[in-house]
Amino acid sequence: MSLPPGFLDELRNRLSLGQVVGRKVMWDARKSNPGKGDLWAPCPFHQEKSASFHVDDRKGYYYCFGCHAKGDAISFVRETENVDFMEAVKILAGEAGMPMPERDPAAQQKADLRGQLVEVMEKVIKWHRLQLQTAAATEARDYLARRGLSPEAQARWDIGFAPAQGGALAHLSAQGVDAKLVIAAGIAAESDRGGAPYDRFRGRIIFPIRDARGRAIGMGGRAMDPNAPAKYYNSPETPLFDKGRSLFNHGPAREAAGKGKPLIVAEGYMDVIALAEAGFTATVAPLGTAITEDQLRLLWRIAPEPIIALDGDTAGLRAAMRLIDIALPLLESGQSLRFALMPPGLDPDDVIKTQGAGAMQKLLDAAIPMVQLLWQRETEGKNFDSPERKAALDKALRDKIKLIADPSIRSHYGEAIKEMRWALFSTRRPAAPRAQGGTWSRNADPWKRAISPVATARNSMLGAGAVSQEHLREAVILATMIVAPSVAVEFGDALERIDCRDPAHRDLQAAILRHLGNADLETIISADLGADALEKLLTQSHVAISPAVRRKGEAEVARLCLAEEFAKLTARRGHAREIEDAVEDLGGLADEGLTWRLAQASAAVDKAGRGDNEDRAEYAVGPNGARMKKDERSALDQLLDQINFAKGQDRPRS
Ligand code: UTP
Ligand code: MN
Repeated sequence: MSLPPGFLDELRNRLSLGQVVGRKVMWDARKSNPGKGDLWAPCPFHQEKSASFHVDDRKGYYYCFGCHAKGDAISFVRETENVDFMEAVKILAGEAGMPMPERDPAAQQKADLRGQLVEVMEKVIKWHRLQLQTAAATEARDYLARRGLSPEAQARWDIGFAPAQGGALAHLSAQGVDAKLVIAAGIAAESDRGGAPYDRFRGRIIFPIRDARGRAIGMGGRAMDPNAPAKYYNSPETPLFDKGRSLFNHGPAREAAGKGKPLIVAEGYMDVIALAEAGFTATVAPLGTAITEDQLRLLWRIAPEPIIALDGDTAGLRAAMRLIDIALPLLESGQSLRFALMPPGLDPDDVIKTQGAGAMQKLLDAAIPMVQLLWQRETEGKNFDSPERKAALDKALRDKIKLIADPSIRSHYGEAIKEMRWALFSTRRPAAPRAQGGTWSRNADPWKRAISPVATARNSMLGAGAVSQEHLREAVILATMIVAPSVAVEFGDALERIDCRDPAHRDLQAAILRHLGNADLETIISADLGADALEKLLTQSHVAISPAVRRKGEAEVARLCLAEEFAKLTARRGHAREIEDAVEDLGGLADEGLTWRLAQASAAVDKAGRGDNEDRAEYAVGPNGARMKKDERSALDQLLDQINFAKGQDRPRS
């Protein structure tokens, strides 16, 4: 039922929160100042001896500095009497001598309709469950089995099947359900041309969606055919189903979070199921749309710092950025977000399936705070080599911080940003220990290092395109070094400096550095890491087609390839500091041949640039013929200039 406008305000005005609360607590007489409506007591919501529970009687709000419980008279009664909102209002209205209003007939009707729709939904879910056991659902069962969903798990999630020819509407009608209700529940749709209504879900696996209290409100349908027009088809908005205010797995997740499980937000149904089945039971997902402000508030009602598990793809990262913009104005103390980044191209479901729950746990443990992601977004892949650029960065960050409404949080963000800014502009990374005599000791956890402020700005972690590009480059570099061990020794220092993000790459990097100088890296690394690790690297399609791997044994090809890939990687990671390092490395080689060839290539590029092509502004050609972005190209040129400068000669310009 709904209350007339102003009823609650009137109720709050008439009540003294101090009186309502005073029945449950003993005020701390020394700390309290009743004249000012300032009351303190040991908190009724958690065990304590001191008085950290504060009531502001004038404003009608309470807050506990210990457990952060907060609210007004209504929420206090709800929590302490364990009743729902309306019950609490009734109790308080009785105390305040306010008669409860009559039931609003329109609201009553709406509630009745919702009740009916829930019943229809339950019926259709049951029917879909049964369909999954029929002969027509063989393919669907196989599909679910392939995706690792046991029959028990299917039962736990009430997963069903909508046959290709439909049938839900016919079944419900046969049970005497009015077609209007079936349509209102979003199960069937009215056809445009006034024909008979038709089933919305056909030939799909059905994931029921329930509200926080477990009532069925909608469905998501997964196509099995990869060519289906939409991978997922979801229930439309109905009187039950408000996508922007619902979360998949809301109820169970809230319960699990209450028992101490970290609250995780994934992108999709299958991610939630995989995570929950792997023990991460406090997991939810939005319903086919980006996370809304309302959903954020729901999340914060469950846990103060939900972890957003981001797919390691462009869309996932873009979604995170949008989420930050929504979250900033809403931040309050004890209410924030963390972000767990999945490896490029993987979603949480993939991570659990391919690497196990342990790997997932590690990614969650490494989740970064929102302020760091904010910083990365603004500094990512950018160069701050001029005062103007630095000023632009400061402005961009200031504009973001201004969005934070809470002054204390705003100032903490300012501080954190200041520190990261300082780290970016005024420190140089201490030189990494060199690989020598086959020992390679790098104790710092590379992932931790990668997310430390200095390193994050360097790594293009969040241009998602850039992430997977970098991943490819790393793979090509590692593969090239392994197949061309004689050339690899020349690039040892360069290799040592790259921060590989993929754990598999880090292992290979370490192994190469350990065995640098060995004439048969392939064999010795196979022995070290297992043949699988190498096989996996060398058979990746882009690795298999890379020039140095295809033309194994041609040292010069490998050398050019490595020079180019390292230059591109350092350009992407955007830091003069690394380019300097690379220059030192290459300069140290004193390889006339390489320098000459790079110079030739550079000259050729200059020429190519003059004979225009459409991509001219963006792209150029690298020394081994590949397209390079202009900024990568200029990193390479810069490298060349410096090599040549060191050698006392100019880069030839033809
Ligand atoms: P994803 O494309 O990441 O799918 O969409 P997924 O959850 O990993 O599913 P699988 O593993 O391929 O089965 C994430 C979420 O976006 C919504 C769904 O809610 C999905 O779970 N979505 C996606 C749609 O609503 N429609 C679509 O066509 C695709
Ligand atoms: Mn998936």
